[in-house]
Amino acid sequence: MRLNRSSTRPLMLVTALMILAALAVLIVSCRDNAGQSSTGAQVAGATEDINAIAEARGLTPTDIANAVKTYTPSGRHDEYYLFASGGQSGQVYVIGLPSMRIIKQIAVFTPEPWQGYGYGEQGTMDVLAQGGTAANGNPLTWGDTHHPALSETGGDYDGQFLFINDKANARLAVIDLRDFETKQLVKNPITLSDHGGTFSTPNTEWIIEGGQYAMPLGFEYSSIANYETDYQGMITFWHFDRDKGRIDPEASFAIELPPYWQDLCDSGKLVSDGWVFCNSINTEMATGGVELGNPPFESGASQNDMDLMHVINLKKAAEVAAAGNTTDINNFPVITLDTAIAEGLLYFIPEPKSPHGVDVTPDGEFIVIAGKLDPHVTVYSFDKIMAAIETGTSDTDQFGVPILDFDAVMEAQVELGLGPLHTQFDNKGYAYTSLFLDSAVARWSLGGSFDELNDDPPWTLVTKTPVQYNIGHLVTAEGDTVSPDGTYLVSMNKWAVDRFMPVGPLLPQNFQLLDISAPGANMPVLYDLPIPDGEPHYAQIIKADKISPWDVYPEVGWNPHTQAVNPDAAKQGEERIVRDGNNVEVYMTAIRSHFTPERVEIREGDHVTWHITNIERALDATHGFTIPAYNIHVSIEPGEAVTFEFDATQNGVFSYYCTEFCSALHLEMMGYMLVEPSDSASAATD
Ligand code: CUA
Repeated sequence: MRLNRSSTRPLMLVTALMILAALAVLIVSCRDNAGQSSTGAQVAGATEDINAIAEARGLTPTDIANAVKTYTPSGRHDEYYLFASGGQSGQVYVIGLPSMRIIKQIAVFTPEPWQGYGYGEQGTMDVLAQGGTAANGNPLTWGDTHHPALSETGGDYDGQFLFINDKANARLAVIDLRDFETKQLVKNPITLSDHGGTFSTPNTEWIIEGGQYAMPLGFEYSSIANYETDYQGMITFWHFDRDKGRIDPEASFAIELPPYWQDLCDSGKLVSDGWVFCNSINTEMATGGVELGNPPFESGASQNDMDLMHVINLKKAAEVAAAGNTTDINNFPVITLDTAIAEGLLYFIPEPKSPHGVDVTPDGEFIVIAGKLDPHVTVYSFDKIMAAIETGTSDTDQFGVPILDFDAVMEAQVELGLGPLHTQFDNKGYAYTSLFLDSAVARWSLGGSFDELNDDPPWTLVTKTPVQYNIGHLVTAEGDTVSPDGTYLVSMNKWAVDRFMPVGPLLPQNFQLLDISAPGANMPVLYDLPIPDGEPHYAQIIKADKISPWDVYPEVGWNPHTQAVNPDAAKQGEERIVRDGNNVEVYMTAIRSHFTPERVEIREGDHVTWHITNIERALDATHGFTIPAYNIHVSIEPGEAVTFEFDATQNGVFSYYCTEFCSALHLEMMGYMLVEPSDSASAATD
């Protein structure tokens, strides 16, 4: 028999609020009376203060409870890291939970001056160059970051690496979580846009990059009249070499797909390990042309009641690729659609309707599809999918891909509301789905092995919490792993509207923190965080103790791009300037509060290679370095060695200086670069 908790819930809530209010009083009274024991009178006084503060600020008991749940006193660390895409900023946000304090932005696809990313430092210039060039030959300097993925071991986050995609240019990035720096960008060699990435397989052998908008693979031109014959979709599987901390393009491959628009993907886990699931939109193969009287894309691509979930046998596909049963496109191995069908690598399952998210449950048994034009989530059983593949089917799409019977593989449909998009999970047998049109987070109960974890009947909507406004992705603590935590949920809202003070027509997005620790209908919003620097899409939340970043680089002279000591790094006591013809090499060290050498005298026309090592070993003793007029800026963390190069094209006197306020004598941490004009230089050489 199931316990009916609804009658006791209001009472429990009131009790909880009273406890929290009392806690708040205690915290305030302890802070006010540090080192002394609190007396009853002092507590009573603090109560009056709290009431007065609450009244003056117009705070309700619920507001106070929410504040106590998120407030993190100075010096105390958060319980979780949240890694969020930075949207059009091309960067990654690092945010602490539950405080919702922004701790860092990691430079990824876009130059970032504070970190000296893309302002001369050789390693970062090399990383950005890996991302390829724009059509005009200039470097690509932004990204539309969408889906970060943490590396996994056995289906659980291991805290070692973070991956993220750039939808605009079909690129991936690898970030090393020892120093929170981007180590590699990879450009997809066969297509222009991606969306179904990044997702990691349970042991991070493969990073999944599903495509988005169909095009002729390999960047060839073909008239859009030839859409069904010449345009293709694709999915790329990037092999990750964990020892090297890099994607290995040589060991990676793609599969050609029909010209539907593949959307989000997810990796199977546990029972479904080795399989990958992607959904698709525009199975209508609409090609637009509203100006010619055709249906506009948004309606042309929304005619079908069912689109097609792609079920991909990755384990077998990797064997087919390794056997060389591929075609090269731009020197990249691609399994053709015909081979994929012949080898049994690809199956379709009907899915309603213009779906967005596809999410595999923590046990790997169910696949949840949110059909954004359908009020339901549709749940498929992996067991039933395997049985249907075993049975075989004569139904195919026009390209010959087998289509499994919907009723044979569907486990349940749960009506949640309008505009379901994405689903995550907890440890209490609940799933959480974002409802874009309803502006709400839906909590619903799973069936199967999850049924016994809560008192709600399986496959049932339990509650909805309104969010402000128009939620896209949501993320729960470790909510896409084999063992979600069930503590916090962050609602990533696209519209802020009236939530923050007005700042002109461009408004921030709104991240809202929800407490999902209690079962049933209680799922309050605790905190709003404006995101002012791009429209973030997806995020990952990981327990803080799973990440062990370095305090300082392990040894002096460290090159973060090789994660090893650079033998050519400048060393203390061996600072020097070496000239070889017009090539000048500067070996410089930095320590509070001076650079050595403090004078660098060169000639106009010299090619300069400049090394700086920060020889500090103290936590947070970072120095910055700039040469004005040359657009050079580097950040040198304790132990780090950097190199930058430039041509001394402009003569004159250049005061270089440290850009981090590192000591009381920070302003004096400077030097002069003197560039002698070339005419007087040649006179001097004579
Ligand atoms: Cu070093 Cu300021």
